[in-house]
Amino acid sequence: MAAKRRPGRNHLFVPGPTNIPDRVQRAMLVPSEDHRSVEFPELTKPLFEDTKKVFGSTDGTIFLFPASGTGIWESALTNTLARGDKVLASRFGQFSHLWIDMAKRLGLDVVVQEEAWGTGADPAKIEQALRDDKNHDIKAVMVVHNETATGVTSDIGAVRKAIDAAGHPALLFVDGVSSIGSLPFNATEWKVDCAIAGSQKGLMLPAGLGVICVSPKAIKAAEGSAGSNDRLARVYFDWEDHKKQNHLGYFPYTPSLPLLYGLREALACLFEEGLENVYHRHHVLGEATRQAVAAWGLKTCAKEPKWNSDTVTAIVVPEGVDAAKIIKHAFVRYNLALGAGLSEVAGKVFRIGHVGDLNELSLLGAIAGAEMSMIDNGINVTPGSGVAAASSYLRENPLSKS
Ligand SMILES: Cc1ncc(COP(=O)(O)O)c(C=O)c1O
Repeated sequence: MAAKRRPGRNHLFVPGPTNIPDRVQRAMLVPSEDHRSVEFPELTKPLFEDTKKVFGSTDGTIFLFPASGTGIWESALTNTLARGDKVLASRFGQFSHLWIDMAKRLGLDVVVQEEAWGTGADPAKIEQALRDDKNHDIKAVMVVHNETATGVTSDIGAVRKAIDAAGHPALLFVDGVSSIGSLPFNATEWKVDCAIAGSQKGLMLPAGLGVICVSPKAIKAAEGSAGSNDRLARVYFDWEDHKKQNHLGYFPYTPSLPLLYGLREALACLFEEGLENVYHRHHVLGEATRQAVAAWGLKTCAKEPKWNSDTVTAIVVPEGVDAAKIIKHAFVRYNLALGAGLSEVAGKVFRIGHVGDLNELSLLGAIAGAEMSMIDNGINVTPGSGVAAASSYLRENPLSKS
């Protein structure tokens, strides 16, 4: 049976994949071409340099893989670490959990710091664990910058300070899948050794392009492990193969051409708006969403304002209500895609993604739809209250700084 036609645009408010700007979509409509031609580097060489800017990196190396964010997690771990190496990781949501699970399955010895869902990485605890590690057995600290499952942003600058205060040489790996390109990210200042991004969130592209920004220290760690018998196996994600080709503008295997053209256009969009404006816009849209949640009389999953994420808000539904019903109804009745609660918070929260290519009125559409779906499902929310609160805030707070 053919799917039911729903007139008008689907309102996509999951926290990735995000809306793709029309000009980026058009830029991806390209015929196939020879990725080993003499002209191909004209596309690729500037991409490596320009991509670095969204990571806030001046000294890093960018690698582009036909992969999603999960592949890039693997790339960070397998290029730098050896079997049995100890790593320190904070767990406070589904994505930090999955990355830890991967590290364990790869044969790493993961020291897990459990934090309540709705909070994030605790720099003081990280510092203590590193101070206690007198022999420097811990080789890397893994942190998810923006936990998409709970709408929590951790303070990576503070984590860096904690590592330095402990005088510990561990590498710092940061998952920026739902932050890079939307939230301020300073890979060089924070000395992030592997910063991990996927194409389908702040970069406003389809999924399928995995991006990593690697510090000189991590490049050295990868080179150092090359001859070791214990090094983790890596083939597809081996940086060495990419290094040999990338500086010439080529890849060791077939790249996804449409995604590379899309990346060029998406970066142009971000730079035309200005990264500072992009970050400010996400902050304003995040705050407007939170104003709506407060007006509904509901709470966010983020337990304190310091954890608030400006790319995704997880909204806790009242006891006895199944959040999945609100999500399903919003989709079927109002053509609005909201994010589901994952794992521990399944059925307890729904998420509004406010990441990527959006503005005031698109966000207000999502807030209106969420409100209507909640009311239809018997939640005692005053009609129009969220929209009124968010629109008042948005009228007073322009999206652009300049
Ligand atoms: C914070 C975070 N890390 C990692 C991932 C996994 O990325 P992917 O689904 O692109 O493999 C996601 C996906 O949503 C994410 O939000």
